[in-house]
Amino acid sequence: MHKYLEQNIKDIIARYPGVGKILNEYKIGCTACAAGTCRLKDIVEIHNLPGPEEEKLMGRIALAISPDGALMVPKSPGKAAAPAGGLKYSPPLKRLVDEHVLIKRLLALLPRFVAGTDLGSEEGAGLARGGLKFIRTYADKYHHAKEEEILFKYFDGGLDVIQVMLLDHVTGRGHVKAADEALAAGDGAAAAKQFLAYRELLAEHIKKEDEILYPWMDRNLTMKQVGELSGRFDEADEKFAPELIAECEAVVTGLEKLLGAAELT
Ligand SMILES: [Fe+2]
Ligand SMILES: [Fe+2]
Repeated sequence: MHKYLEQNIKDIIARYPGVGKILNEYKIGCTACAAGTCRLKDIVEIHNLPGPEEEKLMGRIALAISPDGALMVPKSPGKAAAPAGGLKYSPPLKRLVDEHVLIKRLLALLPRFVAGTDLGSEEGAGLARGGLKFIRTYADKYHHAKEEEILFKYFDGGLDVIQVMLLDHVTGRGHVKAADEALAAGDGAAAAKQFLAYRELLAEHIKKEDEILYPWMDRNLTMKQVGELSGRFDEADEKFAPELIAECEAVVTGLEKLLGAAELT
C-alpha cells in the first residue's frame, strides 16, 4: 500500500475509478478537484479522519486497487474522534471562521433576493449593487486578503489544498464582475444567475475551509506562528476603517430586514 500512498490521487483514480467513488462517499471531492497534484497520503492527512474510520477507508481503497486483498493497509496512528461540541480553532483561525458567519448570512439571502427582486429595475439593481459592495469589500478585500496575503503564505503555495482555495477566490471575483456587468446592461436574469453561482461556490468554499483546511492548518502551525498570525491579522484589520466594516454589516442586516433572515443550507 505504501507505494500507492506516494502516488498522485488523480492517477490512482484514473486507473482505479472505484477509488474516486469511495472518496466521494466520504465527501472527499478529489474527482471534481480542479488542481490534482495531491498524493493519496496527502488526502488522508488533510482530511484527518478518526483512526478506525481512516483504516476502514484505506481498507476499501486497497480492495478497489487490488480486489484479491494483496495490499496491506497501514495501521492508523489511533487519532481520536473530533471533539464534542464542534471543531476548535486557534484564535486567529477562529477570527476567520467568525468572519465567515457574516458572509454566510449574505449568501443565505441570495436565492430569496434574486427570486423576489427585479434586478433589471433601478431599485433592484441598487440593492444588488449593495450586495456586490459587501462581497468586494468584506468578503474579498477584508477576509480573502487575510487568507491570501497572510495565512496561506505559511504553507507551500503549490499544494492542491491551497491552489483550489485560491482558484475559488478567482472564480468568485469572475462572478462578481459578470454580475456587475449584467446589472449595468439591465440584464436582471444574467445578474441573478451570477449571484446564484457565487453563492454555490462560496458556500462550498467556506465549508471546506471551516471543516478541512483550517483544522489541517491548525495542526501544522507552531504556537509561535499562531501568535504571529494574530498580530498580522490585527495589522491588516487596522487598515480597514471601522465605518467600512459597519457599512458592510448594515448591508446584510438591511437585506435581512427586507427579506427575513435565512440560514445557509
Ligand atoms: Fe477562502
Ligand atoms: Fe475564508
